[in-house]
Amino acid sequence: MAKPSHVTWGGRFTAGPAELMLQFSESVSFDRRLAPFDVAGSKAHSAMLAHVGLITAKERAAIHAGLDMILADIEAGRFVWETKLEDVHMNIEQALTKRVPAAAKLHTARSRNDQIATDMRLFFKHACATLGAKLRTAEQVLLAVAGANRDVLIPGYTHLQRAQPVYLAHHLFAWLEMLERDRQRFAEVAAHANWCPLGAGAIAGTTLPIDREFTAKTLGFVDGRGRPQVTQNSMDTVADRDLFIEFAAACALVGVHLSRIAEDLILWSSTEFKFVELPDAFCTGSSLMPQKKNPDSCELLRGKSARLQGNLHTLLTLTKGLPLTYNRDLQEDKPPVFDSFDQTALCVDVLGGTLAGLTVVPARCAAAVADPALLATDLADYLVLKGVAFRDAHHAVGAVVRLAEKQAVEINRLTTADVQGVHAAFGEDWREVFDLRRALAKREGTGMPGPKQMARQFARWRQRLA
Ligand code: ARG
Repeated sequence: MAKPSHVTWGGRFTAGPAELMLQFSESVSFDRRLAPFDVAGSKAHSAMLAHVGLITAKERAAIHAGLDMILADIEAGRFVWETKLEDVHMNIEQALTKRVPAAAKLHTARSRNDQIATDMRLFFKHACATLGAKLRTAEQVLLAVAGANRDVLIPGYTHLQRAQPVYLAHHLFAWLEMLERDRQRFAEVAAHANWCPLGAGAIAGTTLPIDREFTAKTLGFVDGRGRPQVTQNSMDTVADRDLFIEFAAACALVGVHLSRIAEDLILWSSTEFKFVELPDAFCTGSSLMPQKKNPDSCELLRGKSARLQGNLHTLLTLTKGLPLTYNRDLQEDKPPVFDSFDQTALCVDVLGGTLAGLTVVPARCAAAVADPALLATDLADYLVLKGVAFRDAHHAVGAVVRLAEKQAVEINRLTTADVQGVHAAFGEDWREVFDLRRALAKREGTGMPGPKQMARQFARWRQRLA
């Protein structure tokens, strides 16, 4: 049990918190990573205080110099973090107080409530930029894999059953679309983060003559034309955790995408498919079975997605029942956000590494895509062009497939007499449908896997990711 209160907020207390309470309530063990943002926020805030005359230029300079030294200590690992000072804000403020008398004025017109909201908005802008850059790198790797295997065809699947032939690159470009949407989503979250909370105070601003726009500008909370953006309701400012949820949702969706990509890779690298060989560097062996090479990086990508969804769920549950405005519960908003950031960053890097070492096995792809049944739909289209209604054509080709199955031959090995027996509209040229390259060349609408479209998409992605 504690000595009379020495803590920053201790004026109205006769005793400090219990040791157990300190352990329970501290957040410095995880929020210390906000130090660079906290220091930036304090520098901007003190610059504003000097700008409006609440502190002198000399005091501002002393505060800035002190904060710079503290940040240097933190970055060099020399800073001593104290649990009893609860959080990153009070650790830094106390350290500053030891160096600079003017530190006692730093918290003028500020609360930890608008301070943490500011730190986190700066963190989100940084985190979104970092993840955006990592996604871009992974996308570039993916584009390179597509480029190196431009001519490879594979079956596309629905219901995990062979459906229609596509270029492997078309499948990889589907992944690219997913990752690119993720990248854009982080840009949107960053744009939502771009409003300055400082000045909202604890809940109702301040009576002191501050200049919120000045602070916002100093911290880079500005629109495209450099105009300051400040939050518009002081209560919402300290209660709002939408960004946390949006960020965690964006990460969870990355997780879902990586998990689906990973699942494709796991299937494709199995002996049953063997369309690809995964790099040794991202696989592991079995401690018992000498022949095993397991796709662990992909399995972990699939597994981590659960964790990212869990973090999102934690944040939704954390906020749903809270009365306005700030409640201490909200301190629990940071571990899931940091975990989502760290794990998403790792996952995207691991996907990039796995893809960079991927080897495509063209012979296996060719064998799988040679299945003429993949072109059954094309055969129905052939009949449509001969004037047959699609439903009738579909039915006729179904009968052809059944006949081939009965004769135990591939569909294009039936005789012309056989197929004409099914439908009179089949001509002598019916087998031309089964020329794969010719079949692909007919799929030239936007978004389809025809060779001209593929060239267009290669050009589009090269430009986009340049
Ligand atoms: N460590 C606190 C948090 O993360 C900072 C805000 C504290 N505010 C307060 N009124 N106790 O939520």
